[in-house]
Formats: sequence, C-alpha cells, structure tokens
Amino acid sequence: MSFRTFFLSLSASFGVAWLAIIIVPYFKMRSLEPIVMEEGEGTNAVYIPKRAGRIADGAEVYGENGCYLCHTQLVRPTYAGNDLFRPDWGGLKAIDDRPDTRRETNVYDFEGEQFAQIGVSRMGPDLSNLGVRVEELYAKDISPEDWLYRHLYNPRFKPEDRDSKCPSFRFMFDESEIKGNPSDDALEFAGKNGGEITPKPEAKALVSYLLSLKKDQAVPSSLNFAPSSGEEEAAPPAPADEPSPAGA
Ligand code: HEC
Repeated sequence: MSFRTFFLSLSASFGVAWLAIIIVPYFKMRSLEPIVMEEGEGTNAVYIPKRAGRIADGAEVYGENGCYLCHTQLVRPTYAGNDLFRPDWGGLKAIDDRPDTRRETNVYDFEGEQFAQIGVSRMGPDLSNLGVRVEELYAKDISPEDWLYRHLYNPRFKPEDRDSKCPSFRFMFDESEIKGNPSDDALEFAGKNGGEITPKPEAKALVSYLLSLKKDQAVPSSLNFAPSSGEEEAAPPAPADEPSPAGA
C-alpha cells in the first residue's frame, strides 16, 4: 500500500465518522423551530418545555456533582435499543385514570438547557422521569421533596437500600443542634449527631431540578415514536361489560 492510499483511507475512516456523528447532528439540531401542535394532539399550543429559575440553578448543581456520570436522561429511540419496557424510565403506564406517559426522548426535551445531560453511563437508573416516579410511586408517607432530600443525604436510609451505590451528598446540608423550636425548613429526620438537618441552597435547587424531570407533556405526533400512546387517548376503549354494538 502506498503512503498516499494509506493517508486517504485513514482520513476517510475518521472523516466519515466525524461527518455522521458531529456535523450532521449539529446542522439538524442547532436551531430548532418550535413545532405547532395540531388540534387533537392534547393541546394546540406551541410545544416548548419549560426550564427557568431555580430549576436552571439545580441543573448546574447536577452537573457540578457529576450525577451525569452514573445517571442518564435519555430514553433511547426504540431502533437503538428499547428502553420503554423498563419500568418507569420512559414514563408510567396507564392505570385507572392515569394516562400513559411513556415516550422516547426527543431533541426538544433539552431545549433551553445549557447542557443536555444525556449522561455518560447507566450505573444508576435513568432520571428522565424521576419527578413522575417520586411523586407517583415513592413519596407515600413523606412529601416528594423530602423523599429526595433523604435520598441525597443518605441513599442507604432504608434497610432495603443498604447496598445503594449512589454517593451521599451530605455536604449539601447543615446539621445544627436544636435550640428551642426547630427551624422552619428542618427535615423530618435527625442528623448523625441527633441535630436538625436543613438543606443548603444548592440542595434546594437540585431538588427543584430533580422534581422537574418529567417528560409527560403532550408531544406532537411527529415526535412521538412510542407505539401505544396517542391512539389510546384518541379512542378510549369501550367499557368492558358492555359489548360494543358494531361487534368490533
Ligand atoms: C457512582 C455513581 C453515582 C453517582 C455519581 C450518582 N448516583 Fe444516584 N444512583 C446511583 C445508583 C447505583 C442508584 C441506584 C440505587 C439507589 O436507588 O439508591 C442511584 C439512585 C439515585 C436516585 C433514585 C432513583 C430511583 O428512581 O430510584 C436518585 C434520585 C439519584 N440517584 C440522584 C442522584 C443525584 C442527584 C446525583 C448527583 C448529585 C447522583 N445520583 C449521583 C449511582 C450514582
């Protein structure tokens, strides 16, 4: 092989990957146009997910503390490996009057964020729908905020979580001796030395951000690849005990 062929093949093998992974996605995603929703898609407003104020500060705390090293925020498109079957990652299944919120992540989910926290590895669960999970499934006897504070303070709080590999972020909390009445934002659990625990501003911002992690807004059908959602809402199934007149 001559040097020339070697050099050309080398450039081609790096060049093609660079084109496909950097250049093409850059031009496809660098300036997203708002999509106007058609009637019948849940709402006919323009689709722009909301991210501002303390939630944006919380996103910074999330980045600074390396949460993205172990947690993804990306429900993969099904052609790249189905994530929707994983309980609660892509949203929740319809139960009783709760609608089915499962769907794949789309580029608009990160609109307005400085960094798209898609994550580096999946040592811990995907957090795309953490807010939904905490509110609907985890926070039974405490408020959703307190559930998250407790997890951040000590992920090994409950006996069944003794082997959790999530680091504890205790430095985001203050522990002080209780003198007189407990402080207003003291958490329900006592600290290591029996004092009261209060979240610092960074913990509050982080928890607002974590609770905002919900992908349950209605999306235009052009972006919604989840096979079941949408159809079910358009045509509610007939009550089970009444055979439908058409015999369908
Ligand atoms: C070393 C890897 C690692 C890092 C870094 C990490 N986590 Fe975790 N996290 C895990 C693992 C593993 C679990 C699963 C075990 C559990 O539920 O405690 C988890 C679970 C969680 C859960 C519960 C999720 C659920 O649905 O049950 C939350 C919330 C969470 N982590 C938040 C965070 C936040 C916020 C940060 C950054 C401040 C962070 N984690 C950093 C590994 C990590």
